[in-house]
Amino acid sequence: MFSLKDKKIVLGISGGIASYKSAILARRLIDAGAEVRVIMTSGAQAFITPLTLQALTGNPVHTDLLDTAAEAAMGHIELARWADHILIAPASANLLARLANGFADDLLTTVCLASEASLFLAPAMNRVMWQNLAVQNNARKLLERGATMFGPDEGVQACGETGAGRMLEPEAIRDMLIDKLGIEPGDNRQTILTKPLSTSATESSAANQPSAYATHHRSLHGLNIVITAGPTVEPIDPVRFISNRSSGKMGFAIASAAIKQGASVTLITGPVALQTPGLVKRIDVESARDMHKAVLDNIPKADIFISVAAVADYRIDQIAEEKIKKSDPGMTLQLVRNPDILASVAAMPERPFCVGFAAETQSVEEYARGKLDKKKLDMIAANHVGQAGDPVFGSDNNSLDVYWANEGHHHIAPAQKKQVAAELLDIISERLTESRH
Ligand code: C5P
Repeated sequence: MFSLKDKKIVLGISGGIASYKSAILARRLIDAGAEVRVIMTSGAQAFITPLTLQALTGNPVHTDLLDTAAEAAMGHIELARWADHILIAPASANLLARLANGFADDLLTTVCLASEASLFLAPAMNRVMWQNLAVQNNARKLLERGATMFGPDEGVQACGETGAGRMLEPEAIRDMLIDKLGIEPGDNRQTILTKPLSTSATESSAANQPSAYATHHRSLHGLNIVITAGPTVEPIDPVRFISNRSSGKMGFAIASAAIKQGASVTLITGPVALQTPGLVKRIDVESARDMHKAVLDNIPKADIFISVAAVADYRIDQIAEEKIKKSDPGMTLQLVRNPDILASVAAMPERPFCVGFAAETQSVEEYARGKLDKKKLDMIAANHVGQAGDPVFGSDNNSLDVYWANEGHHHIAPAQKKQVAAELLDIISERLTESRH
């Protein structure tokens, strides 16, 4: 597999414990055919030695901006011109800050400023640092300037905490880079990637194995995605409401996976007890009508709308201004229909690619396809709910059957919601590309 054949890549390594993985990353890039030159910051050299990277890449490692010997060999301007792509892994919080603000106070930041190469960043830091608004703003600035962010991943961190901030594994970074740079003709990966394109109802039943989508994520770079998540809350009086059991986990998992695949994400959510994934623009709402308004405000810039929220179908007609006192033995609440947010977006003349969710207890395909047609959607993802031992609400796992026009179908096997989310996005990305042709 020489998918990176002849690509000249500057691998920048900044200071962080994840820099030990960069040695493996350098090898993986070379295995894929890339020419790799390494720049290490002084922080990186506290974790691994230039000698390791020199031995692995077969090239001298660049460390100093103001080193006459190094400048005489391959100076910073030559290095900046040489690179087709600059990949910085790990990208520390400090490095993101210096890049975002145009600093040129060491060799790596200077080369980045002096180069026209495309910039890829694999952040790695403690989860609280990654959530910090200063870091998020820097990351967003860099994205807006055209950089691509790979990760960070979620999981156990070197500091012992668990959350988003881990550097992605070297193989995942290599695969994402290959996806971004395009795949050479004759490369096996192309077959793997396009195989599910023709997924028909019959083929997909054989595709219950972990599918190609699960391992090779396509890129959503540059796309704006609006996602709704969680329940809505419909007030009865100042202290009571009607709602449902949606945890928001599926919508949040999709938001997080979309960020990892390079999208800009606006997440409009009802009340949930979940942390906002890094780089996601979160808008908190309560009622279906609030959610509708937030969606309409954000849809004009959206390429894709994924409606995961469990929107209450009805709301109370007259919300009591004061707490309702109990008096009669029984009482009746008058309900009126809420707007169908998804259908209203799908009916717009200039509409994004619209994806709905359907939770069904029986006749899943029939009901899901019914909603696909009735709401005029591009795609619908159906959960089979209410089966013994298979709770969807609040669970960390899920499986989906995804349907689209002309008998299009893909089964996503039971897995953690974050994997299911990534696989769903791959299908969306592929159908979106198809629909634009
Ligand atoms: O018709 P049903 O509620 O089963 O459709 C589910 C899909 O429609 C989901 O994608 C849900 O987010 C969306 N929906 C909506 N507004 C409503 C009801 C459902 O956007 N009022």
